[in-house]
Amino acid sequence: MSLQQQLSQYAKIDLLNAPTPLNRLNNLSRKFHREIYIKRDDMTPLAMGGNKLRKLEYLMADALAKKAKVIVTAGAIQSNHVRQTAAVAAMYGLECVALLENPIQSDNPNFLHNGNKLLTDLFGARCVMCDELTDPQSQMETLIETLALKDTYIVPVGGSNALGALGYIQCAIEIAQQKPKHIEFDKIIVASGSAGTHAGLAIGIQELLSQSQVIGVTVSRKQQDQSPKVEKLQNELAQMFALTQTPEIQLWDDFFAPMYGMPNCQGLEAIRLLAQQEGILLDPVYTGKAMAGLIHYLETSTENTPVLFIHTGGAQALFAYSDISQKIK
Ligand SMILES: Cc1ncc(COP(=O)(O)O)c(C=O)c1O
Repeated sequence: MSLQQQLSQYAKIDLLNAPTPLNRLNNLSRKFHREIYIKRDDMTPLAMGGNKLRKLEYLMADALAKKAKVIVTAGAIQSNHVRQTAAVAAMYGLECVALLENPIQSDNPNFLHNGNKLLTDLFGARCVMCDELTDPQSQMETLIETLALKDTYIVPVGGSNALGALGYIQCAIEIAQQKPKHIEFDKIIVASGSAGTHAGLAIGIQELLSQSQVIGVTVSRKQQDQSPKVEKLQNELAQMFALTQTPEIQLWDDFFAPMYGMPNCQGLEAIRLLAQQEGILLDPVYTGKAMAGLIHYLETSTENTPVLFIHTGGAQALFAYSDISQKIK
């Protein structure tokens, strides 16, 4: 049975309707003398787009099958995941309750109220603040008890369990179908946070484009802590699809300092470069840092093989981080 056939055995709701574009970055390709492509998952059609909609196709199908009335999830105040989850909940007439933390302890009004938070509020989510998400699963369970919520369904942080990660196996299928015949991507670069995107993509690419290597750029934690998260999900997916092997985990670790949610110079430079060379908006928390990793590689590598960047979205956060972004030069 093909990967596509196996995947189609899992119930999903259709949030994307069509593949996202896979385009050549003409100006960047010229600048770095190599074939550079981008997969535009920032252009998924709902709630201003992003990678979480792919995961929510499967997670929300599960929630609906279980007759949930309240979707509970968690993330940072500027979470793209919470924004997209709130939108899909609204679309299905479900309540969304979001447990939020402020990872960088910012009191800037834009960080607290603009960007993703503005949109999450607009989608009608009920937001509850906590000091820190140390153990989100049990914190969400406690919240359900405290608010006496009924018929709940917990969507894990980032939508990253094996079910959610199926969305990125679907993305790998799209990439295999869309890529130009004469192009073999040597490296596929993606931000690696709660790890479902990385794990699903790596499994799908192993099965369909085995000559390509998926590289996660860490945005939340160091490689030694990130690797087990990717590994766990890859193992679960391998079991679901009866695979005998999992991809070797590749992580680039030098681009997320000082911490999750805090922009850095390399990331901001990458945002400017993509905006000014290609008219494409990256974000300061995930894709700017991942692109900084790719640019470093392009500047230092002696190879000239084709590469693919997965744009997972997040530009809504630019409005929340405007003060910090201007300070870092
Ligand atoms: C814009 C963006 N890119 C990448 C990621 C990372 O994806 P994952 O959490 O599946 O590792 C996220 C997660 O929130 C995100 O919002």
